[in-house]
Parts: sequence; C-alpha cells; structure tokens
Amino acid sequence: MKIGVFDSGIGGLPIVERLKEKFPNDEIVFIADTKHMPYGDKDKSLVIKYANNIISKLEKDGAEVIVVACGTVSSLIPLLCHSVQLIGIIEPLCLESCKRTANKKIGVMATVNTVNSESFPSCIHKIDRSIDVYSYACSDLASKIENRTSEEDIMSSLIDPLRYFDNSGIDTLILGCTHYSWIYELIKKNTSTISVISPTIIVNHISF
Ligand code: DGL
Repeated sequence: MKIGVFDSGIGGLPIVERLKEKFPNDEIVFIADTKHMPYGDKDKSLVIKYANNIISKLEKDGAEVIVVACGTVSSLIPLLCHSVQLIGIIEPLCLESCKRTANKKIGVMATVNTVNSESFPSCIHKIDRSIDVYSYACSDLASKIENRTSEEDIMSSLIDPLRYFDNSGIDTLILGCTHYSWIYELIKKNTSTISVISPTIIVNHISF
C-alpha cells in the first residue's frame, strides 16, 4: 500500500520513521511544504489551500491513505477536500492523554492556529467532559525547530509555556505540534513530574 504523509516541514519526519518501522512493506511518500512553513500562524484559508494542493498531489501519486503529520492541518481536516482517508494527530493524542491522566488536568502545547481552533479541548471533552484542558499557543517554536536553532534559543521559548503548565497542575502534556517531537527529551527533562506525549505515538494507533 502507498501511504502519503505531509507536514509544513521536518515535523513529519519522526512520524515517517515510525511508520517505516511499523509498516516495512508499505511505500511511504512524504511531502514537506517548507516553502510555506510556518503554517501555525498563517491565515486559515491559506493553510487549507496549501493542504488541499498537497493532498491532491499525493492522491494523484497513488496514495491510498494520507497521514496528516501536522497539528495545524489536523485541526482543519473537516474543511479539507480529499477522496482517500485522512488520518490526523488530534484524536490519537487525545485518547492517549485521557488514558494517562490521573488528576484529569491535561496540557496542550501547539501552534497559534491549532490552539485557536480548540480542536484538542473539544476532542478531549468528547472522551471525558470532566477533564480540565490548559492550552498554550507557541508562536515561534516550530520555526526555531525547523531552522535548527540552538538549545538555548529553544529554551527561551519554552520558559513561559513550561511555567504556565507548572502553575496549572497538569499531570499530562500533549505536544500538539509535530515539530515538538524533536524537542521531546528537552521538554521531558524540564517537566519531571508531567507525563509528556510525543506526536509520534499516533503511529501506535494506526492500523490498515
Ligand atoms: N508541524 C506543524 C504542526 O504540527 C506545523 C508547524 C508550523 O508550520 O507552524 O502544527
């Protein structure tokens, strides 16, 4: 089977790696729209246009299923044009976080567009209404990761969100942007009592 995968940039790569391990006999085609990166704070209609173009390319190329390895585009899936199945990151991350939380306080760190869409809280509340969701929009973090900036520079963008999550008392944190899987270890190191969920776990939930 041919599996299409896309993201605005390198956020999709760790997901591609996990897919290759899990489905060694399938063909994986990955598109990174680095020309238009970042998606996270662009106008919604533009992101929809870019995503629809990529989906149509992957479909023409014979993809039978498409993994939307991007939180920002995953939050727009109901608005996209597609003829093959689209698999986004939001539902699997929400399912995993609801399984892990003991105190029913979940944090979500994602791009501005993803946080504004409220896709994560609404999906979590469909699973369990009694969970409190604390969201933090990081405006420049994905671009810093894409540009492979220094750890010190990345940390300067993490101080405020990590303080926010610390004060909110969450026990589980969803990394709701696939770029953040590149700094999973760094975030884990700085949130010792919190269970951090990397976007790559979505691959555990995929079966064909
Ligand atoms: N990796 C993407 C996401 O999960 C996009 C980041 C961006 O392009 O701003 O949201």
